[in-house]
Amino acid sequence: MQIYFAPLQGITDAPFRQIHAAHFSGICKYFTPFISPTQNYNLTNHEIAEVDPWKNRGFHLVPQIIASRPELFLWAASQLADMGYTEVNLNMGCPSGTVTAKGKGAGLLTSLTGLERFLDEVYARTPIRVSIKTRLGWQNPDEFPDLLTRLNTYPVSELIIHARTRVQFYKGQTAPEAVLSLLPSCKMPVVYNGDLFTPGQCQAFAKAHPEIQTVMIGRGLAANPALARTVLENVPLQPGEMRTYHDALYGAYRQLFPPNAVLGRMRELGKHLACCFEDATKLLKKIRKATSLSAYENYTAELFEHPLRPDPGFIPEP
Ligand SMILES: Cc1cc2nc3c(=O)[nH]c(=O)nc-3n(C[C@H](O)[C@H](O)[C@H](O)COP(=O)(O)O)c2cc1C
Repeated sequence: MQIYFAPLQGITDAPFRQIHAAHFSGICKYFTPFISPTQNYNLTNHEIAEVDPWKNRGFHLVPQIIASRPELFLWAASQLADMGYTEVNLNMGCPSGTVTAKGKGAGLLTSLTGLERFLDEVYARTPIRVSIKTRLGWQNPDEFPDLLTRLNTYPVSELIIHARTRVQFYKGQTAPEAVLSLLPSCKMPVVYNGDLFTPGQCQAFAKAHPEIQTVMIGRGLAANPALARTVLENVPLQPGEMRTYHDALYGAYRQLFPPNAVLGRMRELGKHLACCFEDATKLLKKIRKATSLSAYENYTAELFEHPLRPDPGFIPEP
């Protein structure tokens, strides 16, 4: 099995990827959170820093682009090709209302004819490989067979499927059967994504579905940074490792960003890391609401004194 680290806007930025890759093995590809070229063919300074090859050295990175117009996608893809990238990923899954209202992300799934117009242009003119990250459809997993029929007509380098529809966002049941039943008809390599939160769950999935060779994991890896290593090399997360990793990341952010930005990022990460520890529910709430870096430091110092849970990973909110 191969494991990809899913893009998580607000968590898996360049410093995060650098530090994760330096501390933990097992990730075959990292993906940037989406970059979104503007109507004037621009990227923000943050987006340029995100894809800077120097800030992403030492691991395999695939930049992800979100766009509603093929010419904007192609412009960004050619900028990335000029930087030396050989693959870009098209985001067809982002469920956020502000994104889909502009026809981007999962918004591309609302009209298959519109999608075909977009993809015709992209695949006719792209200077590099284009993989796709999609959902099963907008409303109902029954939409997936038609979507796949259309996608099969393009040279999609890899198809990453989040096994939910847009209306589900990241909640409710995934529908792995919708992916598995159509696997033999997929003309491109397929990557499965969705709710593989712990090493145990990944191992069980790999055993039950040997036909899936690659999975993409997001929240599980944000919670347990050693998840891929545990699955692939059988070396579980060690108690002291979490602290070392956390402190390296915290130190890097403190050098790069003002205190409020550091606090925002660390609260988001901290709420994932806390899932790996026993009896952390109260601390998790405190970490999420910490109003200063010193409060945050106190809560995490306390958190790291707790024992690790067996099979540590992400715990979704009920
Ligand atoms: C906070 C957050 C930010 C995300 N940002 C992105 C993104 O920028 N691009 C993308 O394709 N998916 C994004 N996703 C979706 C994840 O990549 C992934 O598909 C989703 O979390 C399901 O996988 P998981 O169950 O392993 O977490 C995001 C999800 C979350 C929760």
